Amino acid sequence: MAVRFDVITLFPELFAPFQTVGVTRRAFESRAVDVHLWPLRDHAEGVYRRVDDRPFGGGPGMVMLVEPLVRALQAIRADQQAAGGERLPVILFSPAGRPLTQSRVQALAQSAGAVLLCGRYEGVDQRFIDAYVDEEISLGDYVLSGGELPALTLMDAVARLQPGVLHDAASHEQDSFSDGLLDCPHYSRPEMLTLPEGQEMGVPSVLMSGHHAHIARWRREQQLAITARRRPELIEAARARGELSKQDEHFLSNLPL
Ligand SMILES: C[S@@+](CC[C@H](N)C(=O)[O-])C[C@H]1O[C@@H](n2cnc3c(N)ncnc32)[C@H](O)[C@@H]1O
Repeated sequence: MAVRFDVITLFPELFAPFQTVGVTRRAFESRAVDVHLWPLRDHAEGVYRRVDDRPFGGGPGMVMLVEPLVRALQAIRADQQAAGGERLPVILFSPAGRPLTQSRVQALAQSAGAVLLCGRYEGVDQRFIDAYVDEEISLGDYVLSGGELPALTLMDAVARLQPGVLHDAASHEQDSFSDGLLDCPHYSRPEMLTLPEGQEMGVPSVLMSGHHAHIARWRREQQLAITARRRPELIEAARARGELSKQDEHFLSNLPL
């Protein structure tokens, strides 16, 4: 089943190049991830096709107007219905939203999709949010100029989970967060690297041993060590979910922090 994204944006031109490169291109070209762009200005009225105005109460910046957004959403609903699809939830990108996580991405990748609203200016008139937005998603504790990069980020993360997008299906299963932990380090050729400064750098010998069980254990321990040092809260969460084995706990209890 395809995942449909209806993207409301003031800058549709930002999306096209992204859909033609890299491993995710296959997901977009095959319409496994079916992107529909809805330029907000097409739904604005008047000579100037205004989509923003000054905030009531004063203050700097502009606010995205409700009416063009409602018209855009009505057009999307009509199109979804004509396509025989279901009514998709509306996601607004906002620094005040819940931080995006891999588990949310996984759920969206298995869903019918969503309407993605890319904010600009100071943000969206709260009445549109109250009436129509189902979920607010943040990319992190910093402020971007618009919701287009968050929308592209979300669609990229969803696209790479579609069957057949990655050459090796196991690849995303070992990515950071898929099992609740950060990823282990990766190495490739040459086995012995000489830097221009003369320093020689080898590869952990276990990776050259051909012993699959030892390699798997080494990778697991690297994941545990990196996660414990950088994101200890993820270790706590994995523990609370019962995902740490006795062997994992023994390794962690001997880990110098
Ligand atoms: C300049 S920002 C508005 C910031 C808003 N006044 C605030 O302080 O929260 C314009 C738009 O960029 C998007 N945006 C900015 N930072 C974001 C973030 N960290 N996560 C998700 N969207 C973000 C939102 O859609 C937002 O409406």
